[in-house]
Amino acid sequence: MYAKSVFCLLSLVCYSVSSQTIYVEPKSPTPEQLDFLKKYGYLPEVPPDADAAYTVSSMSEAVRKMQAFAGLPETGTLDDETKQLFKRKRCGVKDIESSSTSARSRRYILQQSWNKRYITYRVVNGSSTLDKSRVEELLEKGLAVWAPFGNLSFSGIEQGRADIQVSFVSGDHGDGFPFDGPGRVVAHAFPPPHGAMHFDDEELWGDNPEEDDEDVTDFFAVAIHEIGHALGLSHSNVKGSVMYPYYQTPVESLHWDDILGMQELYLQDQEETAVVTESPGSQTSLVPRFTKPGSDEDENYMPDLCMTNYDTLQVMNDKIFVFEEEWVWVLRDRHVMEPGYPKRFHDVFRGLPANITIIKTIYQKQNRNILIFSGQNYWEFDSTFHFIKKGSLSDYSIPDEVPELTTVFLSNYNNKTYLIEEERYWRYDESAGRMDERFPKEMSMWRQVPYPVDAAVVWKGDTFFFQGPRFWRFDNELVQAHEYYPLPTAQFWFDCESTSDMDRYITNDGP
Ligand SMILES: *[C@@H]1O[C@H](CO)[C@@H](O)[C@H](O)[C@H]1NC(C)=O
Ligand SMILES: *[C@@H]1O[C@H](CO)[C@@H](O)[C@H](O)[C@H]1NC(C)=O
Ligand SMILES: *[C@@H]1O[C@H](CO)[C@@H](O)[C@H](O)[C@H]1NC(C)=O
Ligand SMILES: *[C@@H]1O[C@H](CO)[C@@H](O)[C@H](O)[C@H]1NC(C)=O
Ligand SMILES: [Zn+2]
Ligand SMILES: [Zn+2]
Repeated sequence: MYAKSVFCLLSLVCYSVSSQTIYVEPKSPTPEQLDFLKKYGYLPEVPPDADAAYTVSSMSEAVRKMQAFAGLPETGTLDDETKQLFKRKRCGVKDIESSSTSARSRRYILQQSWNKRYITYRVVNGSSTLDKSRVEELLEKGLAVWAPFGNLSFSGIEQGRADIQVSFVSGDHGDGFPFDGPGRVVAHAFPPPHGAMHFDDEELWGDNPEEDDEDVTDFFAVAIHEIGHALGLSHSNVKGSVMYPYYQTPVESLHWDDILGMQELYLQDQEETAVVTESPGSQTSLVPRFTKPGSDEDENYMPDLCMTNYDTLQVMNDKIFVFEEEWVWVLRDRHVMEPGYPKRFHDVFRGLPANITIIKTIYQKQNRNILIFSGQNYWEFDSTFHFIKKGSLSDYSIPDEVPELTTVFLSNYNNKTYLIEEERYWRYDESAGRMDERFPKEMSMWRQVPYPVDAAVVWKGDTFFFQGPRFWRFDNELVQAHEYYPLPTAQFWFDCESTSDMDRYITNDGP
């Protein structure tokens, strides 16, 4: 499989052709599928009876977006796997905002957190299969999962209006978002300051996902997702995150993507958060989301990843993080950018001193902690980006005369940590807590790998080295770079057009 994609890349035309000209007309969606695409924001709303206005290509684009959001192959056609999605149990909240409120055109954050620490909730009633007190227990458990990530405190009340009101309702229940009977939409919730959570009472609700029949919907799994909305989060296209829109069990804890969302909403510095008034006529209370505030009008500048001037990249939490200047991008796969990026890395790694203005090397340890190196120090974060401590290179027994490392990575080949200076490297054994003997060694040991390297990453089992605009795949058995390398980084990893002079990257000669 690897060789195939390489060959395709070597004849670069093939690569660009395959994404542009292979175009398959989708079979026409059924009215129900059309409703789904509109309801969840994949197709623009049109006046009633104007569905004929959708072109084949807008339909195909909508299907593609829906597939991308769900993590399916983006074929743009209604294949069997995609058709299944229309029928799956899911949350009724929109996945994508309508284009009129595109995040790109707004430069402020919407007022969508609670703006306070103490939040009340009230369970109005239970369902026919799950009584009110059991609902209260499970809801309390779900709230406790979220609370620490926003430094929030929840308390239940029995009477009166709470911030978060939970009820079981069915069909048309007065908020303009009727439920649809058993299956499909099972619940929805409104962001602050509304905060209501509605569960479809026509579902069979249960509390034992391991033993319940398949037609039973696990209340806890749905409630923990809806709490996310009631706290202001929108849907995530990260499979396995709590905010993924399709029903999934079991759900026990938050995913790092959910945690980042919470940090963005609740742990931002207050002065960065501009309170904003809604534009008239927008339905934003039903379109939860969060965007990074722009602090200054002349800060439109942002580096272009296709220029390949990044400082380093690294694989962490199974995603590719790319650092350039003060920014970080996150890709969930080659060519697949996580929405919401780039962000300022200081907003992701809070606790890093302000005078660290670029990240030259970063890696994730076997225990999933993340270390950022700068000069002779490092800053350690847990896998959800909470600052733990500052340390020094001497903790790794790196001699004092080494001013700075250029690259650090954890090899999947032997589970050892490689600490690379410009022309030499050390090997550290994390489990033994000591440097291996007879190091440092010369970088020339890694045959056909350039140095100094900007980055070394392990991705899907392979080790890659990056320098300037190119990258090399390393063969751990042969201890040398694979013969088809280097290849151009921007086109292979990021979504960048091929350029006419690309073949100059595909040789081992110098630039
Ligand atoms: C959480 O809130 C309390 C009370 O306002 C405050 O003292 C504490 O520093 C906060 N913790 C964090 C991590 O923000
Ligand atoms: C729960 O309370 C809501 C709001 O008062 C009401 O509309 C709904 O019918 C009640 N559901 C049940 C199952 O009693
Ligand atoms: C950042 O500031 C600290 C002390 O305030 C200093 O010791 C350190 O050298 C500075 N680091 C950089 C990268 O400028
Ligand atoms: C490295 O560690 C991982 C996780 O602890 C383990 O699954 C793997 O087998 C180890 N590999 C080697 C070569 O020791
Ligand atoms: Zn949802
Ligand atoms: Zn409702």
